[in-house]
Amino acid sequence: MITVKNLEKHYGGVPVLRDLSFSIEEGEIFGIVGNSGAGKSTLLRCFNGLERYQGGSVTVMGKEVAALNEAGLKALRRDIGMIFQNFGLMGRKNVFENVAFPLRIWETPPQSFREFLARLQFWRAPSKEVTDRVMEFLELMGLADKHFERVQSLSGGQKQRVGIARALALYPKILLCDEATSALDPNTTMDILSLLQSINSRLKLTMVVVTHQMEVVKRICHRLLLLDKGIAQCLGKTEELFISSTECLKKFMEDDYTLIATGTNIRLMFMSPREISQDAVITTMARDLDISFSIVGGKLERYLDDVLGFLIINVPDEHLDVVFCYMKEKNLHWEVLGNGRDNVGRPR
Ligand SMILES: Nc1ncnc2c1ncn2[C@@H]1O[C@H](COP(=O)(O)OP(=O)(O)O)[C@@H](O)[C@H]1O
Ligand SMILES: [Mg+2]
Repeated sequence: MITVKNLEKHYGGVPVLRDLSFSIEEGEIFGIVGNSGAGKSTLLRCFNGLERYQGGSVTVMGKEVAALNEAGLKALRRDIGMIFQNFGLMGRKNVFENVAFPLRIWETPPQSFREFLARLQFWRAPSKEVTDRVMEFLELMGLADKHFERVQSLSGGQKQRVGIARALALYPKILLCDEATSALDPNTTMDILSLLQSINSRLKLTMVVVTHQMEVVKRICHRLLLLDKGIAQCLGKTEELFISSTECLKKFMEDDYTLIATGTNIRLMFMSPREISQDAVITTMARDLDISFSIVGGKLERYLDDVLGFLIINVPDEHLDVVFCYMKEKNLHWEVLGNGRDNVGRPR
């Protein structure tokens, strides 16, 4: 559906995307994940021709994007719907008009600028086709009873549903989602993700989901690409990347913690499902050894039935040897942080 080969993009000599190669298959939900500034939005905008690129190639549905003329780009963008973090809606228009907007403009392309302006006159009654199509999608989004409400009076989740309905109104073949859930609370995020998932399977729509939230890719993406400073760090099936506890995913899931200056800071890693009952490790170790630890920080996330991530504990020096023995015996994965000792985590 989308093939990227040796893609290079820079802004005024500063590289933003470097030698990217991957392809996105028809009907899949493909995740692009990475920290802020990694180049995710720029990459997405190369797909619909909103950005130019300096090297390599991007083909979408068999066409090289850089080679398209004005008309070709217009046709391409018609086939690609997009939703955004801040929804990109007309706040003072009602729900119906927001979803009808692309239809009014593109149902049959306006023949002149005057006609284009005339189509923008919202007081003009929409055709039956437009009305039917808008109502079809509002129903799919569970918003049919809200069509006369102004968008600005809706909740964040409802606004994003309007955004999705509008993006789907022209029956696109690809849906690009740029941080579409980043402005939503966790429950609403899950609702919107389920909705996207059901659209993907019902409409067989190819989706590209850009996000900095690992939660999002884990929940819905079939495959993922991790970007860091414009460079592909890993690419593969979501589940396989998690289960093989890929090094680059570990790094991405880490945050910076202020380590305790005394004693020894140890990071315990819980990166492959079903290996141990992670919740209990720290308490069991403390009880078995009769030592108390400080917890410096950590990041644990639920993946399927397991908890994955890491915890950093601080161990007083006098207890270090017995803690190392214990961790070895229990087959834990760990590494020592920031005090100059060798890393002694079990090699995998
Ligand atoms: N129009 C632009 N002009 C110059 N630099 C830009 C422009 N847009 C983005 N950048 C830079 O490109 C890099 C990638 O940005 P972006 O694609 O928005 O990252 P992400 O979406 O992953 O947060 C950043 O360093 C950003 O500052
Ligand atoms: Mg972005």
